Amino acid sequence: MLSDRLKAKFDSVIARYPLKRSAIVPLLLFAQDEIGYVSDEAVEEIARRVGVNPIEVIEDIGYYSMLHRQPVGKFHLQVCTNISCMLRGGEKIFEHCAKELGIEHKQTTPDGLFSLEEVECLGACCGAPAMQVNYDFYENVTPEKLDALLADLRKKDQGSRIKD
Ligand code: FES
Repeated sequence: MLSDRLKAKFDSVIARYPLKRSAIVPLLLFAQDEIGYVSDEAVEEIARRVGVNPIEVIEDIGYYSMLHRQPVGKFHLQVCTNISCMLRGGEKIFEHCAKELGIEHKQTTPDGLFSLEEVECLGACCGAPAMQVNYDFYENVTPEKLDALLADLRKKDQGSRIKD
């Protein structure tokens, strides 16, 4: 069940676009931020509101690696292994990440803290190898920097649990 808050957000976002279907991606991002992924219900609701077939919304989701149809970890790690990153060690970063977390591409750790995905270009080639954690970018990543990042994220999670 989508919240009233999310439905109100949908209304305000759609009102900003002369062509309703142009709002699909922002609507998907808001839905994902609230639900944790893009549920079937969110797809149906967005399609109905912008006047397209749900399959068109699903096609948009398929194009963008930051949109997920299944729940992902609290920290979703996307490691680029496209050409610039590959030439600067992106594949090693992905392998290191997989080894450290004990998961593979599109898997989530049993505690739900981390999920991992190997992705195409993140648009950060000048800082290759690059990766993204949720909405944050990390460039010139090395195995050592990655270890420090994972430790920071674990600490951040512990801190948020203490506050809760
Ligand atoms: S190739 Fe990795 S960010 Fe562009």
